[in-house]
Amino acid sequence: MNNCIIVTGGAGFIGSNFVNSWLKLGLGKVVNLDKLTYAGNLANLVDVEHHPEYVFVHGDIADQDLLAELLTEHQPNAVVNFAAESHVDRSIHGPEDFIQTNVVGTFHLLQAVRAYWSNLTTEHKQSFRFLHVSTDEVYGSLGKADAAFTETQPYAPNSPYSASKAASDHLVRAYHHTYGLPTLTTNCSNNYGPYHFPEKLIPLVIHNALAGKPLPIYGNGQQIRDWLYVEDHCAAIRTVLAAGRVGEVYNVGGWNEKPNIEVVKTLCRILDAKSPRNDGKPYADQIAFVEDRPGHDQRYAIDATKIANELGWKPKETFESGIEKTVNWYLENQDWVNNVSSGEYLNWVQTHYSERGEELA
Ligand code: NAD
Ligand code: DAU
Repeated sequence: MNNCIIVTGGAGFIGSNFVNSWLKLGLGKVVNLDKLTYAGNLANLVDVEHHPEYVFVHGDIADQDLLAELLTEHQPNAVVNFAAESHVDRSIHGPEDFIQTNVVGTFHLLQAVRAYWSNLTTEHKQSFRFLHVSTDEVYGSLGKADAAFTETQPYAPNSPYSASKAASDHLVRAYHHTYGLPTLTTNCSNNYGPYHFPEKLIPLVIHNALAGKPLPIYGNGQQIRDWLYVEDHCAAIRTVLAAGRVGEVYNVGGWNEKPNIEVVKTLCRILDAKSPRNDGKPYADQIAFVEDRPGHDQRYAIDATKIANELGWKPKETFESGIEKTVNWYLENQDWVNNVSSGEYLNWVQTHYSERGEELA
């Protein structure tokens, strides 16, 4: 059997971590199809760009002809779909790209994969998998006392981003139920770690702190997210791909619920120790409470019992170990941060944060 996978969106945050670790582990050939939007960055893949088992293809998951060519040429044994528009705030400013990639794009990808899969040999048909990488945000928002999301939690997406991801999850489910496509879906909580684009909370705070800029906290900062170190997410995806039951959904999370303000204060404390301000004052002095995100979900929490009991996956990092590794990575990779936080990025922070009463550009 051909030991090859196609990864979509492999130049983004999680996708590039996944491609890097897949190749480092020697798990076989990876074809990375990425549109290289503002969030896709080939600098995330410099360590593997000359790897004999790595192929990069610049393209769109909505391009069915290209997909058909790639599937025919490489005969993959799996397709892992990371490609998406992923930032909630951008989906509020401009939802259209989210519908186009997350809904229409996933539909075209499923169509192309179904056509390919239908013509495989019986043996290859049985081993093939389509793994769709999704999010806990499709389940909506929890109250403080609510139990964490299990896989049977009804969908209740609240942002254009989460609604578009919910739609893509439903399409994946339907392609399994109707056509028998061997799908797997993972719904994961908030990731953090290397190559995280500095529009998201953790890398934005590290970047702004070091640049002497305000650290913007939406609303009162009491919203809760459940944080998972990105390499743990990649390991979970590999586990589900290898052993997950076809047609099933697996929630992935780190059992690390933290209010945003606590995350930001932790980052400030680590930076105070590792890279103190020139004036000796604490980074926490830069915290600025700004206007809240419209429709802001209050709390996410993942119950990751199913993947632990069925497949034996558990996160390796605690929040404390993962966040320290993350800060170290950003301190050691300032060139990467400077490279990605120019051009379009500056336009985004200018538009988005000036509306909230902060000038961050
Ligand atoms: P990201 O925004 O960092 O990367 C997305 C990648 O997809 C980029 O490389 C981009 O160029 C590419 N892309 C976008 N549109 C495309 C298209 N039409 N065709 C091909 N490539 C395209 O996203 P991320 O944070 O790495 O998230 C990856 C996936 O994981 C997404 O599906 C997201 O919904 C999901 N997810 C993310 C998190 C998180 O905390 N970041 C948590 C759970 C699930
Ligand atoms: O839960 C999984 C999701 O996590 C993924 O599906 C998304 O792709 C990913 O972007 C992430 O979504 P969030 O909206 O939770 O992540 P973000 O880093 O944008 O925000 C985390 C929390 O911090 C959220 O409550 C909003 C808040 N926040 C964010 C920014 C950018 C701030 O308070 N200030 C900020 O400047």
